[in-house]
Amino acid sequence: MAIPQIKLNNGNQIPQIGLGLWQIRKKSDLDTAVIAAVEAGYRHFDTAQAYGNESWLPRSLKKAGLKREEAFITTKIWTINFAPILTKASFFFSLKNLKSDYVDLLLLHYPVTTMRRRAWRDLESIYQSGQARAIGVSNYTIRHLEQLLSECKVKPAVNQVELHVFLQQPELLAYCAANDIAVEAYSPLAHGYGLDDPVLVEIAKRYNKTPAQIMLRWCAQVGTIPLPKSINPKRIKENIAIFDFNLNAGDIAQLTRLNKNLHTSWDPTNTR
Ligand code: A2P
Repeated sequence: MAIPQIKLNNGNQIPQIGLGLWQIRKKSDLDTAVIAAVEAGYRHFDTAQAYGNESWLPRSLKKAGLKREEAFITTKIWTINFAPILTKASFFFSLKNLKSDYVDLLLLHYPVTTMRRRAWRDLESIYQSGQARAIGVSNYTIRHLEQLLSECKVKPAVNQVELHVFLQQPELLAYCAANDIAVEAYSPLAHGYGLDDPVLVEIAKRYNKTPAQIMLRWCAQVGTIPLPKSINPKRIKENIAIFDFNLNAGDIAQLTRLNKNLHTSWDPTNTR
């Protein structure tokens, strides 16, 4: 099954599902996950300076038999590296970790108060050098994006936020669509919370899918790029098998009612 690609606002393509590497804390787990993912058809891997596994990824990809140019790799500048000098220095260290002379996507990990404005200028300069093929942000609310769009030279291609059926963020999705910013959904399974929800279970049964697949399909159908994390080969395979069915309008309406603004990790709403 071919994985759909989404066109970013700079013309580059991004695969519409990626393996989230957050909380993969052992080299052997990363090897297992990446080998299973490549076998299942994943080509998109989402890491970060803060995850502690950037430097293991090249070895795992090599073991999986995937060439650098076949992979779409994202990393993120960690909050303490928003300071002058550190943004670029930490990015070069990330490139070294990733054994590559570019990343496909580079994000600011969080809308750090004040510091984010200067750090974005460094990302623009990295983008212009070609060492990041696209740049974007993570955990930005509409307010943070409005500020960025009012002063940037290069528009963010992506905003990566926590998004799932229990945290649907419709206003943010509409704002990003209107401004041609692709949305990536981290923790699209809400960390496993709610997989036994009766609405998910009932819909899953009808499509002969699992509740996790319904959650991920919802993310895809609202136009986002889900980044499920798993180290379990069976679940990794399950999580990508979401492009062979369509939730109908009635099911989407039922799923819309599951929204309860549930943040399982950061809530950037009050970050100034
Ligand atoms: P595991 O790594 O053992 O598979 P999220 O991506 O929303 O943060 O969710 C990650 C959590 O969900 C992890 O605990 C992961 O555990 C679990 N998980 C991943 N895929 C599935 C699945 N298809 N069914 C149930 N749990 C899953």
